[in-house]
Amino acid sequence: MAEHILIIDDEQNYLLILDALLSDKGYSVTALNDPETALEFLEESEVDVVITDMKMPKLTGRDVLERVRKHYPHIPVLIMTAFGSIEAAVEAMRIGAFDYITKPFSNDELLLSVTKAVQFAATSRQNRLLRETLADRYGLHKIIGKSRAIRKVLEMVDRAAPTKSTVLITGESGTGKELIAKALHFASPRKDESFVSINCMAFNPGVLESELFGHEKGSFTGAVAQKRGRFELAHGGTLFLDEIGELSHDLQVKLLRVLQERSFERVGGAKPIEVDIRIVAATNKDLQKAVAEGAFREDLYYRLNVVQIELPPLRERREDIPLLAAHFLDTYAKHNEKHFKGFTPDALEYLTAYEWPGNVRQLENVMERCVVLADKDVVGVEDLPPEIKDEEAQYKSAVDMLPERLDLTQTLEKIEAALIRRALVKSEFVQTKAADMLGLSKSNLQYKLKKYGIAGH
Ligand SMILES: Nc1ncnc2c1ncn2[C@@H]1O[C@H](COP(=O)(O)OP(=O)(O)OP(=O)(O)O)[C@@H](O)[C@H]1O
Ligand SMILES: [Mg+2]
Repeated sequence: MAEHILIIDDEQNYLLILDALLSDKGYSVTALNDPETALEFLEESEVDVVITDMKMPKLTGRDVLERVRKHYPHIPVLIMTAFGSIEAAVEAMRIGAFDYITKPFSNDELLLSVTKAVQFAATSRQNRLLRETLADRYGLHKIIGKSRAIRKVLEMVDRAAPTKSTVLITGESGTGKELIAKALHFASPRKDESFVSINCMAFNPGVLESELFGHEKGSFTGAVAQKRGRFELAHGGTLFLDEIGELSHDLQVKLLRVLQERSFERVGGAKPIEVDIRIVAATNKDLQKAVAEGAFREDLYYRLNVVQIELPPLRERREDIPLLAAHFLDTYAKHNEKHFKGFTPDALEYLTAYEWPGNVRQLENVMERCVVLADKDVVGVEDLPPEIKDEEAQYKSAVDMLPERLDLTQTLEKIEAALIRRALVKSEFVQTKAADMLGLSKSNLQYKLKKYGIAGH
């Protein structure tokens, strides 16, 4: 498709010349002598490049430029100025014109400028498309993380999404199970159909049954009208069964039947209803253990667990913490019309070292709190809630990084030597300072230096 160029000039002669010249080169051209009409035209047409004269009655080229920059920042604007008005041209470049040409110009000069603008428009269009596809990939659900663990999860999502296989998502509370379930749906061919979710823990068993399967009018007291259940509502799309570990025995049997036969009856109904659904289930329970204890049916477990996606707790993917923290800080700052530059290094260290028993959700809550309470544009340690500054938690996370089977005395000595080396480096080998930092007397430090064979200078 030919690139579409919009020319705006109040001088009819120029319009005709430019139109002829550019049409001849194969561009699709719209030539308008009224800038207001031109701006209206932009609203409803796909334009690749705008060429506008500077001096026009009513709206000037500068006004046009400003409007295009604001509403269509991806469209490059070429400014034509009369010979001798170089200041106007410079000013136009300053507010974002792509290029300027002084009248009278040669055909070659104009064509060169237009070619460059067209190329620029093509690249920025490609970038825009690329950004849109990335954002679209999992719907609006931005999954943050760069750890191997989260990359593996996303790989699984990409692999499972095109299929109809049942997926079981496991992981502690707040690790992002629901987010991944939605990502699976939005990366699947079913993305334009419904994503229906139900939390199995939120209803007592009787109610849950009719929520899942629906009921016929009069099937029990209170069933005053026919009701369609989630299985029917999800037809064509994805059904997300959250907290599946909470399902009663009776419902486990019924769910197993749907999984096997892809059909069911409404409560009080006799007619089997067939559905085409993709089932995604999630649990923070250890289902295998529940199976071993007889609390969860083994056959149902295997039916659900065709593909398993395990979300590791946040403390096992600490490199994601700074990214997630920055993401939530940004998000909540926008909600609150605040702006933050980021975190102090100390604050980041605390955030990264903390155990996060409530995982990503807890991190999200802490960031929301920081946004509301922090009064500087950099979040510091003083802005963090007390539980995060708990020193013992810091030690615990440091210890988590060590191998499991270690000799206590040897390990403590290695840690002692490492701390001494760090203090020496930090004090630039001024031993009194290092001893001070460590809470040791100078002679005691010297004794330890000798003991560990550390050079003290
Ligand atoms: N990798 C991630 N990137 C961005 N946001 C995330 C990520 N993981 C989780 N979140 C966000 O953290 C919050 C908790 O996630 P979600 O509700 O999916 O967890 P969950 O595992 O279903 O928790 P629960 O077991 O408590 O129901 C949500 O707001 C979610 O958007
Ligand atoms: Mg959840």
